[in-house]
Amino acid sequence: MNLNQQIERWLLSQRAPFTAGSERPFVTLSYAQSWDGSITLQSGEPLALSGEPALQLTHHLRSLHDGILVGIGTVLADDPRLNVRQWRGPDPQPIVLDAHFRMPPGARLCHLSEKRCWILTSADAVCPDDSALDIIRLPGDSDGRVSLHDALRELKRRGINSLMVEGGAKVITGFLKQKLVDAMVVTIAPRLVGGYKAVGDLGFVDRVALPRISPVFTDKLGDDLIMWGQVTFDDTGGDDTSRDDGEVNG
Ligand SMILES: NC(=O)c1ccc[n+]([C@@H]2O[C@H](COP(=O)([O-])OP(=O)(O)OC[C@H]3O[C@@H](n4cnc5c(N)ncnc54)[C@H](OP(=O)(O)O)[C@@H]3O)[C@@H](O)[C@H]2O)c1
Repeated sequence: MNLNQQIERWLLSQRAPFTAGSERPFVTLSYAQSWDGSITLQSGEPLALSGEPALQLTHHLRSLHDGILVGIGTVLADDPRLNVRQWRGPDPQPIVLDAHFRMPPGARLCHLSEKRCWILTSADAVCPDDSALDIIRLPGDSDGRVSLHDALRELKRRGINSLMVEGGAKVITGFLKQKLVDAMVVTIAPRLVGGYKAVGDLGFVDRVALPRISPVFTDKLGDDLIMWGQVTFDDTGGDDTSRDDGEVNG
């Protein structure tokens, strides 16, 4: 079994028991970072980090999810299509978190032939009537952003049972902070960028409450390191120093 098949099998086994009873989709967080944890040089700038095989893995992962979500910051920086091009498989539903409707009409996501992009925006955002997008209005959180809990419930109601979250940093941090991540698949490229970090302040003050990845698996794909595993948010206490970091594969 090659690495892609291994990760696919693992991911499907993780989410099978989850999907049936849950009020929200199974969430896989997946992005590429440098060795020092940067996803780009600075926010708003694109930076290609993954090698070709890792890029193919990203497209493979996209094909395994019902939906794919990014923040508007990523749309403005990268102008992504969020579809499956470097793998054979179905396109996920593209979804953008955009509380203040900053989506540019010329963005490639506004002109997809296969699927209309869903925009998760706030109740009072001003959106054009003739938009080529499906506008979904949701309550805001205390920061004026879209409430992630409400967003996930609505996505589930619309048939999204599995969601891949690709970034950027504010969105990654938001999902982790709200404990809304089930699995992570991260590409670590052998570069040192010293730039904009994937994960910001998570607001955890108690070290035993820090999210952990267990079991964790690793392998190499081309020059990149791939790490994947289940994310747990164990805030019930316990001895953090005695924990077993789980098996390391590869
Ligand atoms: N290496 C990688 O794998 C990778 C992947 C993706 C992106 N990137 C890079 O990351 C950078 C963009 O990251 P970013 O942190 O600036 O932007 P981002 O996370 O893509 O988008 C953040 C924006 O999403 C909107 N939003 C709405 N509800 C939110 C919520 N509940 N939580 C968080 N955000 C919410 C907010 O804008 P509004 O309030 O206006 O709605 C917020 O400013 C780009 O430079 C891109 O190239 C790298």
